Amino acid sequence: MCGIVGYVGKKPAQNILLEGLRRLEYRGYDSAGVCTVNDGKFDLRKKKGRINDLAALLRQQPAAGTTGIGHTRWATHGPPTDANAHPHLDQSGKIALVHNGVIENHQTLKDRLVAQGHQFISQTDTEVLAHLVGEYYKDDLVEAVRLALKEVVGTYGIAVVHRDHPKSIVGARRGSPLLIGIGRDENFLASDVSAIVAHTRRVVYLNDFEIVTLTRDNFEVTNIEAGAVSPEIKEIEFKAEDVERGKYPHFMLKEIFEQPQTVQNAFRGRLNFDEATAKLGGLNLTPAELRAVDRIIFIACGTALHSGMVAKYLLEDLARIPTEWDHASEFRYRNSPIEKHTLVFAISQSGETIDTLAAIRECRRKGHKTLGIVNVVGSTIAREVDGGTYMHAGPEIGVAATKSFTSQLTILTLLAVLMGRMRHLAGTRGTEILRELERIPGKIERILQQSDAIAAVAKKYCEANSFLFLARQYNFPVALEGALKLKEISYIHAEGYPAAEMKHGPIALVDPRTPSVFICPKNSVYDKTMANIEEVKARKGPVIVVATEGDTELLSKADDLIEIPATLDCLEPLLTVVPLQLLAYHIAILRGCDVDKPRNLAKSVTVE
Ligand code: G6P
Repeated sequence: MCGIVGYVGKKPAQNILLEGLRRLEYRGYDSAGVCTVNDGKFDLRKKKGRINDLAALLRQQPAAGTTGIGHTRWATHGPPTDANAHPHLDQSGKIALVHNGVIENHQTLKDRLVAQGHQFISQTDTEVLAHLVGEYYKDDLVEAVRLALKEVVGTYGIAVVHRDHPKSIVGARRGSPLLIGIGRDENFLASDVSAIVAHTRRVVYLNDFEIVTLTRDNFEVTNIEAGAVSPEIKEIEFKAEDVERGKYPHFMLKEIFEQPQTVQNAFRGRLNFDEATAKLGGLNLTPAELRAVDRIIFIACGTALHSGMVAKYLLEDLARIPTEWDHASEFRYRNSPIEKHTLVFAISQSGETIDTLAAIRECRRKGHKTLGIVNVVGSTIAREVDGGTYMHAGPEIGVAATKSFTSQLTILTLLAVLMGRMRHLAGTRGTEILRELERIPGKIERILQQSDAIAAVAKKYCEANSFLFLARQYNFPVALEGALKLKEISYIHAEGYPAAEMKHGPIALVDPRTPSVFICPKNSVYDKTMANIEEVKARKGPVIVVATEGDTELLSKADDLIEIPATLDCLEPLLTVVPLQLLAYHIAILRGCDVDKPRNLAKSVTVE
């Protein structure tokens, strides 16, 4: 949440900052601002609204100078206004600061500063931090930042500049991501690699409680106690083109269409046909440790949690291991009993979601090993877990997660096969699943070819005020995901439910204006789901069905039918989610919604 970018070099900073902010806009888009250091003064420009509004302001009033910081905001303290936009200045007006995170003790600090004569012009916690740095400033900016941060309770990723030090930027992190981009005759600071990948692929990920001083040709990292740190330089694995929309009108559509490739990336090199199992080397657990596992808990938020819910079906079915899932935000504050042989798995696309991160930290504090399924290489969760698996899905920019979901499902399937083959799963069944997994990209391709037909279904129902998504077993979490996709990008009320559970409440919503989307492929619960379809039809509810190709029985019953190729029960979610992603996308477009940046949301939720 919130994007930060900083530049110090020889080139004009303004456009580099603006370009970086455009790449970070998915992290928050309530307001944006930049501050450059121009000949001993600040050029501070900030604006409520999107990056385009800031760009328009910069066309009228350019910001000069070759050092600067920028920010795109997702509001926490104070509504989105010009005054609350970052950067914020200290009392002297000589220090400018941008911040991602929450300063929990901002009120106490503010009261003290007000008593000392400070005046505040915004309602943000960030302005308090800027003033606090100013209060400590004598002539050494990094020292002032260090002293101020020692007083802070809360989370931060910050970038700070001083008018009298035009050739340096100070950055620091605790709980909110921040990295250094190393260029030639220029250096960068960013909350996310996508902001700087066009300029350099060499980065240093800062750890919590680290502070960096960045100049054009050097960077120095210390910890908050001023101890020296030896930073590790890493190479970014994706290219600048990967964060472009290409021929697609929206990132979300691009990412939906990437799924044949991203699913393949998730299983490439991980199928072991000789032993009918999967290879997940990064788990960092010996076969004996894996065999000893007697319980698994998946912790995640949003779409990633829906993957964790599918994982329960996968692991219990294929490996016979009792499996649970929990909302990271609930788990972290619950005193959940975890025994020695319980595996705790975090699932997170960004690897930065604060609740997921806090949950695994809590487990580690209690001495348990934690594992992760993460997309963003070098992200905080990826670095803090004891082991895990990368998705290799490439950057996901659309706020609504799509390709990361199918990548997570692919890896979870591999995990279930691996664990299953160490227990009761027969080799023939293991081989059957792996063979079919290899066919999934081609089957997703066939679903994508129906995008226009799905758009026609969307047109028919796009004015509905409410939708139900209903399914059983493996597809029940997909029903939740279908409802989540629709509500987050089209703002239509949608509920996902286990199909039979519908009778315990949601059926009261069924009427001729409320469509029900059933996921009903030909599987072991086909007849049961069919009975639920009849119940909705009997109450005159329109029925849209995701069904197996050639299902004539359903064709005669459904008002609209979207076909998916036949597959194994345990792999169905990899296919059934795709038409629901497309349905949500087309409905949102028809309603004129900004699908890549839905209102009130942000891609990477780094505040709790
Ligand atoms: C936000 C995003 C969702 C995402 C969730 C978890 O709510 O809008 O798309 O599923 O965070 O994010 P993570 O990066 O941990 O998977």
